[in-house]
Amino acid sequence: MKRGVIVVAAIVALIAVLALWMVVGMTRTGFSTHGDATMMEKRIARMMRGMAVPAELKNARNPMPMSPMVLPNARAHFADHCAVCHGNDGKGNTPIGENLFPKAPDMTLEATQSLTDGELFAIIENGVRLTGMPGWGDGTAASGKGSWELVHFIRHLPNLTREEIEEMERLNPKPPAEWARIQAEEAFLSGGDPPPPPAGGHQH
Ligand code: HEC
Repeated sequence: MKRGVIVVAAIVALIAVLALWMVVGMTRTGFSTHGDATMMEKRIARMMRGMAVPAELKNARNPMPMSPMVLPNARAHFADHCAVCHGNDGKGNTPIGENLFPKAPDMTLEATQSLTDGELFAIIENGVRLTGMPGWGDGTAASGKGSWELVHFIRHLPNLTREEIEEMERLNPKPPAEWARIQAEEAFLSGGDPPPPPAGGHQH
């Protein structure tokens, strides 16, 4: 009995020392969001993602029928709210998406496409705690409609065309300097003044 207690105490102490060693090691190099998340952090993110999905949505199918306006609506919505992290093509190759922790995933891949419609919907509406994924739903029918349209769009991501991406690029939020440049260019093309030189570059 006594030996058992000593063994358990020794194991607990060993785990504590190892955990401390890991944390001290990581803080020495700077606890950064560069590089890939550890196994444990990925597990926690997965757990949080699972918890974002209420039981009744786990196996739900998209109740919104596909119509000609669904994908154009969702493309505009995605370009405006989601592309800053996920990229217009959903691959997450953006300065923000690549440096989040965990990173914004490549949603064209099986890992995302194998989620059910209900899971995708719940993740969009509720967000994923302890990750960079915000919750977008406000419980209204309008937000639900927008999120089900986005589920159709996420299913379409692996087949997104060059033309669709170009259309989304025009809808992405732009800083005022970029708008001014576009307007000057358009004025120039329609016979107005030549465009001014591009605004000073930003390092980030
Ligand atoms: C601020 C950055 C950010 C924005 C903006 C954002 N997301 Fe995310 N999203 C993330 C991150 C990070 C994850 C990964 C979370 C994780 O590891 O569980 C994620 C995960 C997801 C997932 C789950 C994919 C998977 O395989 O786990 C879906 C679906 C999703 N986002 C859709 C959207 C939609 C739709 C929008 C816009 C309405 C959006 N996101 C806006 C950062 C963002």
